[in-house]
Amino acid sequence: MADIRNEIERRRTFAIISHPDAGKTTLTEKFLLYGGAIQLAGAVKGKKNARHAVSDWMEIEKQRGISVTSSVMQFNYEGYCINILDTPGHQDFSEDTYRTLMAADSAVMVIDAAKGVEAQTRKLFKVCLLRDIPIFTFVNKMDREARNPFDLMEQIEQELGIRTYPVNWPIGCGREFKGVYDRHKREIISFLGDGTANGVRQVEKVELSMSDARLGELLGESLRETLVDDVELLDGASYEFDMDEVRHGKLSPVFFGSALTNFGVEPFLEDFLKMTTPPLPRGSSEGEIDPFDPGFSAFVFKIQANMNKAHRDRVAFMRICSGEFDKTQEYYHVQGERKIKLSQPQQLMAQDREIIDRAYAGDIIGVFDPGVFSIGDTICTANRKFEFAGIPTFAPEHFARIRQTDTLKRKQFVKGTTQIAQEGAIQIFHEPNTGMEEVIVGVVGVLQFEVLEYRLKNEYGVDIRRDGLSYQYIRWIENEEFDPKQLDISSDTKLVQDFKDRYLLLFTDEWNIRWAQEHNKWLELSEFGR
Ligand code: G4P
Repeated sequence: MADIRNEIERRRTFAIISHPDAGKTTLTEKFLLYGGAIQLAGAVKGKKNARHAVSDWMEIEKQRGISVTSSVMQFNYEGYCINILDTPGHQDFSEDTYRTLMAADSAVMVIDAAKGVEAQTRKLFKVCLLRDIPIFTFVNKMDREARNPFDLMEQIEQELGIRTYPVNWPIGCGREFKGVYDRHKREIISFLGDGTANGVRQVEKVELSMSDARLGELLGESLRETLVDDVELLDGASYEFDMDEVRHGKLSPVFFGSALTNFGVEPFLEDFLKMTTPPLPRGSSEGEIDPFDPGFSAFVFKIQANMNKAHRDRVAFMRICSGEFDKTQEYYHVQGERKIKLSQPQQLMAQDREIIDRAYAGDIIGVFDPGVFSIGDTICTANRKFEFAGIPTFAPEHFARIRQTDTLKRKQFVKGTTQIAQEGAIQIFHEPNTGMEEVIVGVVGVLQFEVLEYRLKNEYGVDIRRDGLSYQYIRWIENEEFDPKQLDISSDTKLVQDFKDRYLLLFTDEWNIRWAQEHNKWLELSEFGR
């Protein structure tokens, strides 16, 4: 028992978000480097590096240089066991980011010091706020010309609506980036070397107090003076550090550094680990479930098919919320109402997938899914039957009609679209009383259409024709006794059914929603498909 408690207490599980190219992959890689999980940086993803990249399982990702899927990695550092959840950088996949955040206890937002808050950071950040979890900011690429750090703080606060607290402060930038000032310890951490080793190994550093006589020599007089002025300004003007506000995502601790040269990565990791908590209790149908409760429980937050094309496998990723997972045990799948053995449980350790015997609250495991799990499902010890709160789906904003170009490929078409819909990457609808002759697909971001087309072709061998539809809004019909014949709707509103045969309406604009409500007073509409 004591062992289980220890194991859970040392868990830290966080998601990492950024606009593409801000340096999320590089930072993740450096974390793994500090944890000793990899020897050489450049192993997670390197466009120049021949080694296969964990998150690059789809060609489309490589072509566009964005990560579409999210992956999970675990490593140990200074007694902590850390789970990093990678998220897609593109806003069109913000629903995936949202689900990943459901499995995380905190988030790290990476910002490019020269570019500041970028378009996709905004959307992903809003998704972060929905979860009320601590958000830490890492301002990256300080080894390049950067914007004034005060301006950056102001931009984050104004554009993202979160207060900031710089935990450390940069000393210079570009070639002049000498280190950071630690505001808690009131100390300078100066990085040695010029970063030319490209951050392959861990960086050396010296720690000096502000009054140390060697400071001027180390930084140069002009940087020293700027630092003294900056610190005075910060102490006078910035928000107080309040752990409670951090825990609720109201105040973001900010760190500066350069993932590429390793400068500032370790100080960030150390403070971050101290400021974050082990797994916290989660709400369920039986009240809060304590992570230290010895009974295993977990929920599925992601399903991914065909990660390994050779095996045509389908993996359900679950976040363990309490207790210990034991490979030999039988568990209960609450929504499936049956006992289940979780087969091929695995974790990603740097670039390898490993089959595991045990895992603990806070961990993410991937299990083989024979097609029984859905997103949001609960799995728990065989003698309990509670459900964790479900994961709401985002309402699709783009719609298209799709059909296979080769009618002989019908079976593959149905299988492919259904499976991809089960993964939650798309939502599919059909007209009442028709099967899957023609499918209407709804997505949150248009890039998901491309992924759908690509995957149907590559994984199922099906070419499709796609015609865009002008619908923008979706409402589920909540009336228990619903008779389509009673419905009076305008000609550009469409009645469809989802894969559970629930009725819903597609609207081109809000005016048509009001029209439908006025002409059908009895109609109960909801924005969410439960
Ligand atoms: P992402 O996952 O957020 O999309 O970003 P990624 O880490 O792939 O980094 C994007 C580019 O920025 C990479 O360059 C990477 O080397 C560079 N980079 C990351 N961190 C830093 C930093 O601290 N300083 C500087 N100067 N550059 C940084 P690339 O040329 O696009 O790729 P590669 O050829 O180096 O792999």
